[in-house]
Amino acid sequence: MQCVRKINEELYWVGAEDRRLALFENIFPIPKGIAYNSYLIKDEKNVLIDTVDYSVGRQFLENIKYVLQNEKLDYLIINHMEPDHCSLIEELVFKYPEMKIVCNNQTIRMLKQFYNFDVDSKIEIVKEGEIFKTGKHEFQFIMAPMVHWPEVMVTYDITDKTLFSADAFGSFGALNGNLFNNDIEIEKDWLSEARRYYTNIVGKYGPQVQNLLKKASDLEINMICPLHGVIWRNNLEYIIEKYNKWSKYEPEENSVLIIYSSVYGNTENVVNTLSNYLGEKGIKNIEVYDSSNTHVSYLVSESFKYSNIVIAATTYNLGLFPTIEQYLLDIKRQNLQNRKVSIIENSTWVPGIVTKEINKILSEMKNIQILENTFSIKSSAKDNEYEYIKNIGDEIINNI
Ligand code: FEO
Repeated sequence: MQCVRKINEELYWVGAEDRRLALFENIFPIPKGIAYNSYLIKDEKNVLIDTVDYSVGRQFLENIKYVLQNEKLDYLIINHMEPDHCSLIEELVFKYPEMKIVCNNQTIRMLKQFYNFDVDSKIEIVKEGEIFKTGKHEFQFIMAPMVHWPEVMVTYDITDKTLFSADAFGSFGALNGNLFNNDIEIEKDWLSEARRYYTNIVGKYGPQVQNLLKKASDLEINMICPLHGVIWRNNLEYIIEKYNKWSKYEPEENSVLIIYSSVYGNTENVVNTLSNYLGEKGIKNIEVYDSSNTHVSYLVSESFKYSNIVIAATTYNLGLFPTIEQYLLDIKRQNLQNRKVSIIENSTWVPGIVTKEINKILSEMKNIQILENTFSIKSSAKDNEYEYIKNIGDEIINNI
């Protein structure tokens, strides 16, 4: 059965949702599912923009058939070749043999790598700024390499002032029938999963996102249609400002994020005492995460949000506790910058190892200020060591 939405007179959402997939890209938990958006514009020539993941292919093909009503599919525009969007290309080539594939030069190699059909006979290559007409609609293409793969471009419908933005401005989470940003409470229902999506998928490529934002600022945009998550049809400044901040690695919240590991609860006790001290001194919206029971994608996301981070780590086999090590390597991989970090360590055998290893990773990142006050817990904190916690807290307060 079809599951289609008409967005305006000629534009249809023909995507699909998946709530069965546990891990997006086989790495990121998606407890709220995922939407794979695809868009069909009916014009003198019918044009489809991107496809979907193979797992929802049957729904997608039924949607297209329903919208076309026996008309031809003339063009497929490919903005992005990651398989969560390109999986159904070969099916379309077989089902709609007259269909031409509109893509850029970088896309050809990937098409040939993923597929066996005669790519060269199907493609029409477009370049940055080139105009492509389907009748009433005129499209323009803007290259957006590394947002999130090298071949990515975005497509601007000049006629409707709609930006088909590929992965940019997307989010984890199924749509649940609420296709548009003004159907949901964005801060409550969208922001945290959009931040987790952005920071873990595209976070590393801040300068490239800045390039795209700069190019897009020259366009008059009424609607943004991403490949995941809600379609934006008003309040576009909100999402653009979020992307601007995230891609410049600027914190959204002047407050404290505490990430810890604790094998027997002694490090956790210190973390609780510190967060309590900070709260008592008036710091709001403090977040505390046990790295052992929180997927690292959430920790990366929260690290992009907060100005100050406290890392409280236990020593493990004379090295860093594995979940803390993974967290640090992940924020380094995602190019996190411009944060103030306080360090707490716990050791029973040899003090100093953990602090040294944390310092080493942080020193390889850009503009990370390591605050001076630390606490080297020897197995468990004693009453006369409260001063260490207070000093860490006071220094954070002075630096927020
Ligand atoms: Fe949703 Fe980079 O693919």
